[in-house]
Amino acid sequence: MEETRKPDEVALRPYYKAHYHFQFLSAAFRFGLFDILEKDPGLTLTDIAERLGLEQQPARILLLGCTATGLVRKEGDGYHNTELTQPLGARPDQVPATFIPWETHGIYRAVSWLYESLKENDNIGLQREIPGTAPTLYGRLAENPELEGVFHTMMSAVSRLVAEDVAAEVDMSEYRHLLDVGGGAAMNAVHLARFWTDLEITIGDLPSIAPLANEKIAELGLADRVRAVGLDAFHDEFPVGHDAVLFAHFLEIWSSERVRGLLTKASRALPSGGGVFVVTPYQNDDETGPERSAYLSAYFHTVASGEGMVYTPKEYEQWFDEAGIDPVKRVLLGPDTVVICGRKR
Ligand SMILES: C[S@@+](CC[C@H](N)C(=O)[O-])C[C@H]1O[C@@H](n2cnc3c(N)ncnc32)[C@H](O)[C@@H]1O
Repeated sequence: MEETRKPDEVALRPYYKAHYHFQFLSAAFRFGLFDILEKDPGLTLTDIAERLGLEQQPARILLLGCTATGLVRKEGDGYHNTELTQPLGARPDQVPATFIPWETHGIYRAVSWLYESLKENDNIGLQREIPGTAPTLYGRLAENPELEGVFHTMMSAVSRLVAEDVAAEVDMSEYRHLLDVGGGAAMNAVHLARFWTDLEITIGDLPSIAPLANEKIAELGLADRVRAVGLDAFHDEFPVGHDAVLFAHFLEIWSSERVRGLLTKASRALPSGGGVFVVTPYQNDDETGPERSAYLSAYFHTVASGEGMVYTPKEYEQWFDEAGIDPVKRVLLGPDTVVICGRKR
């Protein structure tokens, strides 16, 4: 058929049709298509319809969508995963597979309130789409235990990717007792404790998370050096007796005023010479990207808190300085994560 569309319409299509790409991916993943094609490559439409429990025509629509968008490949009558989807079938509990349930059940509808959230300067997406009354995503997750499980599976898979590097690249040799604020399901703490065998770690996270983390810590035999306690980082003072504080994937959730408050609180709880480590996705100092910093900023604003965004390393260093912490160095981890390291004056 002759292409009658204007070139600029075609060029813009990936933007205004992006929701179809996601829905093909999400539906196929939920049906287990990538899993069955991983085990049985080359299944036909009829085989797949039967395995997924679908009528022939809906199965045909799903397969057309997946084929046209590069999620599966059709060879003769047989369907196969592509390089993109092979990991989804092979490792459903790891990144990138763990993003799909979280985007499907947690974020997709909520992010469609971006316009309203920017206009109102509030997280309208959370308020409209995630049941409950708490003002932040984390409080609302405690009201939705199933979604909380999906979130922590996703978050642990993301953290697993950086936790090994954090443990190996961030020098903890001078410190004895680390406070991991917003430490979640203990992914960073576990990796750090295994790498730095003299280090004790206290995770401070919301009270609904601490039991989950302690269970995992006990299973891994680390309970003598790692523990999780209930801590509301905004309402409680940080416990004393630590010589380093870690904020991993935490500060970017909050407004710059609150970040400064948390850094001041960390500084107050530390002795002179104490370490401060901020693990965070970053925005380039010249504010041009990368793309992930834009996605995450929209997510924090529309859903998670209504006040955070991905900040530049330069901003963190300035806030360190204001809080009496000397910025010591930046350690880059992968393409878009940085550790800002500081020392209390
Ligand atoms: C994005 S997750 C990061 C988890 C972990 N640090 C990591 O890197 O995997 C943010 C964490 O902050 C916790 N959190 C949210 N509000 C908090 C608060 N007011 N005080 C302490 N922790 C909080 C959440 O429960 C969640 O575990």
